Amino acid sequence: MELSELKNKIESREARLAVIGLGYVGLPVAAMFAETGFDVLGIEIKPDRVQKINAGVSPIEGDEPGMDELLAKVVKAGKLRASDSYPALSDRDIVLIDVETPVDDHHIPRYEALKASLRSLAPVLKKGALVIIESTIAPGTMQKVALPLLEGGSGRKVNQGFYLGNCPERVMPGKLLANLRSLSRVVGGSTPQVAEAMVSLYRCIVQADLDPVDWITAELVKTVENAYRDVQIAFANEVAMICEALGGDVWKVRELVNKSPYRQMHLPGAGVGGHCIPKDPWLLAYGVEGLGVPLRLIPTSRAVNDGMPLHVVDLLEDALAEAGGSLAGARILVMGYAYLENSDDTRNSPTQALVERLSQTGASVVVHDPFVSEYQGDLLSAAQGCDAAVLMVAHTPYKTLDLAALKAVLRHPALVDGRNLYDSTALRAAGWVYRGIGKPAALSAQPNQVSY
Ligand SMILES: NC(=O)c1ccc[n+]([C@@H]2O[C@H](COP(=O)([O-])OP(=O)(O)OC[C@H]3O[C@@H](n4cnc5c(N)ncnc54)[C@H](O)[C@@H]3O)[C@@H](O)[C@H]2O)c1
Repeated sequence: MELSELKNKIESREARLAVIGLGYVGLPVAAMFAETGFDVLGIEIKPDRVQKINAGVSPIEGDEPGMDELLAKVVKAGKLRASDSYPALSDRDIVLIDVETPVDDHHIPRYEALKASLRSLAPVLKKGALVIIESTIAPGTMQKVALPLLEGGSGRKVNQGFYLGNCPERVMPGKLLANLRSLSRVVGGSTPQVAEAMVSLYRCIVQADLDPVDWITAELVKTVENAYRDVQIAFANEVAMICEALGGDVWKVRELVNKSPYRQMHLPGAGVGGHCIPKDPWLLAYGVEGLGVPLRLIPTSRAVNDGMPLHVVDLLEDALAEAGGSLAGARILVMGYAYLENSDDTRNSPTQALVERLSQTGASVVVHDPFVSEYQGDLLSAAQGCDAAVLMVAHTPYKTLDLAALKAVLRHPALVDGRNLYDSTALRAAGWVYRGIGKPAALSAQPNQVSY
């Protein structure tokens, strides 16, 4: 198939689409293309997901506006169906790949899912089809992994027997559909003409800029934008600890810093989680592995952000001591296990690191999370017999929590606020021993010990 024919098929919605990997990203993408009139086949290896999706039920359990209704609609209309059968891809004109791309404990990309999907796709790939990797990948992956696997497995050459692109996703759980529509995208093609064909495809769902580029630029933009976010959050976290030590309030400091031109200080907090931000900086770093580029800022920022749940434990120890308790042998209520407010996504949850550290100190932990099925239930019942509480995620139900009722069931009125959710002045006035990220420990400042 010539590219001009593919473009015509896109414009007439006759192009048959497939999405491999129906997770947080692939499922909304598949549903949105189906809504605009394309026939979409989803390939997913988890049988329970396939079953749920074919019943029109979204497996994403967090608060995801519009997702349940959209999925039910497109499945009922026969525009989207899920399967675990790769041979069913043989009539697909366009195949998007949205599988997970984590890193291991040594920060090396784990491409098992990506390689498996490419290996299974290649032998059944339709002649002239367009394959687009939407997963986040280390710079160089298109050239070194995707291209050889597809050429080798299909027996065809890129730009002759098939076309290949990289169009990384920018969505965030909680806003998946809105993000897909409204956020701009970089569209990296194997040639400028392929990028142009990709632009006409994404124009069907995206109402923002679509910037045609080459592969390496697309790979770099995605990993750099997430590394940027991680570095900025690390800066905010370091400033938060400076403020705590000096009796300043990082939230006030940040507000006023951001009045200065060109300053956009990020939000500090109890840790950075999710599938993307903790690993995408490592994907970027992997892209220059062995090339002699001295990386200092990116690894340091990762360390700062990974240290935040441990800092929460220090704050808790301090609060408990002031309240007359101690951490060893204490039972701690931890509010929030997802990595993001109002989401069920627990990947790389900062709470996991907190729980591990608490266990090492001899404390036991009761976790509550209204969005994570394992930890749902009545919060006050969970709090019974606990010594203190830690807020790790700013889920909406925690905003309206009856703090007086919580205080009444805790053994000590000690609370650590990891997300600046509560009014520290009001809590202290109500008798809480309060600690918060970036908040002064007590009402008086603590001068440091050096002479000026
Ligand atoms: N989650 C986000 O907010 C987000 C945002 C932007 C980009 N991304 C990137 O998008 C990609 C996907 O992320 P996600 O959060 O959707 O991951 P996910 O784990 O939610 O979804 C991946 C899906 O792919 C399936 N899968 C794995 N191997 C497969 C195979 N061989 N064949 C078919 N299906 C297979 C898994 O079972 C899973 O359902 C990642 O590269 C991620 O970095 C994610």
